[in-house]
Amino acid sequence: MDKSFACALVLAGGKGTRMHSDSPKVLKTLLGESMLYYVYKALKPALGENVFTIVGFESGQVEKAFPDMKDRFVLQEEQLGTGHALQMGWGRIKESGNEYCLVINGDTPLIQEQVVTDFLEAVKKEGADLSFMSITPDEPSAFGRVTRDKDGQVTAIVEAKDYDEAVHGPVSGEVNAGIYCLRISAVDSLLSKLTNNNKSGEYYITDLVDLAVECGMNVTAVNAGNSIDLMGINSPLELAKAESALRIRTAEKLLESGVTLHNWESVVVGPGVEIEPGAEITGPCEIYGSSKIGRGAVLQSHVRIVDSVVDSGAIIKAYSHLEEAKVGCDCMVGPYGRLRPGAVLEEESKVGNFVEVKKAVLGKGAKASHLTYLGDSEIGAGTNIGAGTITCNYDGVNKHKTVIGEGAFIGSNTALVAPVTIGKGALIGAGSTITKNVKDGDLGVARGKQVNISRTSKKS
Ligand code: UD1
Ligand code: CA
Repeated sequence: MDKSFACALVLAGGKGTRMHSDSPKVLKTLLGESMLYYVYKALKPALGENVFTIVGFESGQVEKAFPDMKDRFVLQEEQLGTGHALQMGWGRIKESGNEYCLVINGDTPLIQEQVVTDFLEAVKKEGADLSFMSITPDEPSAFGRVTRDKDGQVTAIVEAKDYDEAVHGPVSGEVNAGIYCLRISAVDSLLSKLTNNNKSGEYYITDLVDLAVECGMNVTAVNAGNSIDLMGINSPLELAKAESALRIRTAEKLLESGVTLHNWESVVVGPGVEIEPGAEITGPCEIYGSSKIGRGAVLQSHVRIVDSVVDSGAIIKAYSHLEEAKVGCDCMVGPYGRLRPGAVLEEESKVGNFVEVKKAVLGKGAKASHLTYLGDSEIGAGTNIGAGTITCNYDGVNKHKTVIGEGAFIGSNTALVAPVTIGKGALIGAGSTITKNVKDGDLGVARGKQVNISRTSKKS
């Protein structure tokens, strides 16, 4: 698609009253990403960066969520309707110098890239002045109803609230999907004619259709049949249905590509996640953000992974949580492992049950198998960390580092009070509280001596 052909305007200023939420509806998530994320993703191939967004209700939250779009937000201070939102963005649209503007409701997250591209191609081919996409769902519910004359030409979009069978005739079932393509020079003369003379008291973008028809403009509707992909999302129930549809679509794509899924209906994978063929995942399981899962990696059930890398052959056992972590080839984590941001497990290392790792590197083959906290640490290859080891990294004001050399052995129930360095091959006696550095190969023990006192009184 020729990028100068069209710009886009995303309508994202509304509150989403039916969502009963204090945050803007377009930030509600499906598979870990907001509705707006999906809309931008679908627009990108055809429109590149040429995308403006109307923000209004809690506009700061929307702008913060998409810092890359920062110069392309337009504030609609009062939310007086979709037609008013378009009026607010019109100046920027005209400045963009494009022939057309694609306008899309920000609550349409299932839309696919191909639909946008095909729609723009159709508009270009027909040379329409105003075109919009329609669908014919099982239930017309609250969607705007499309009316046509006896020759099948579109005459108007009438909002559900304003529809009167006596005036508009029987409902056809064809409804407005909320995606429009407007020839900027043509629609320019219509915008000021919008009124709020309707049941909602709002300025409707949809009124442009009959205004354009009245002026003899070329108005077309591109029908996408019964496609769920163009459904607008207004309520928690619609959000849940859309998320389900998306989850199934993603899981099917993974299965087709060669990823094995058990209990596949409960495997939740975000749109930015990459999973190589040959990985094996058991649901329920959630993988979000920019996570990458390698070939032959195994994720057991109840695992939650966010923005993390799991290399090939690694096993993440049940109930483990990973966030901004990196797990190398053939590592083992869990069950009940917790890898927090900055946790790096080099190949063949192991983090066992109830072990928490934060901003710490475990070298090749290092092991922390049970009940341990490793924070702000470097742990050398082949080191063994005993059960109950704690790196005491925080002194109440600052964080400090613990460095443990290769092949060291830390006895169970050791507290390592940072900053502290344990040398290569050093041995720490169980139950120690280590506050001083231990040299390579040395033994460090720091605990009270055991005293045994007999409790049976001797007979005189
Ligand atoms: C709209 C259409 C309806 C269509 C449906 C498709 C109108 C009048 N009606 O209805 O014909 O069938 O979408 O899903 O357009 N917004 C603003 N500023 C506002 C009001 C809304 O930016 O002042 C944004 C919202 O954030 C939302 C989008 O516009 O993303 C659509 O608004 P919404 O209230 O959801 O419209 P619908 O009632 O669903
Ligand atoms: Ca809507």
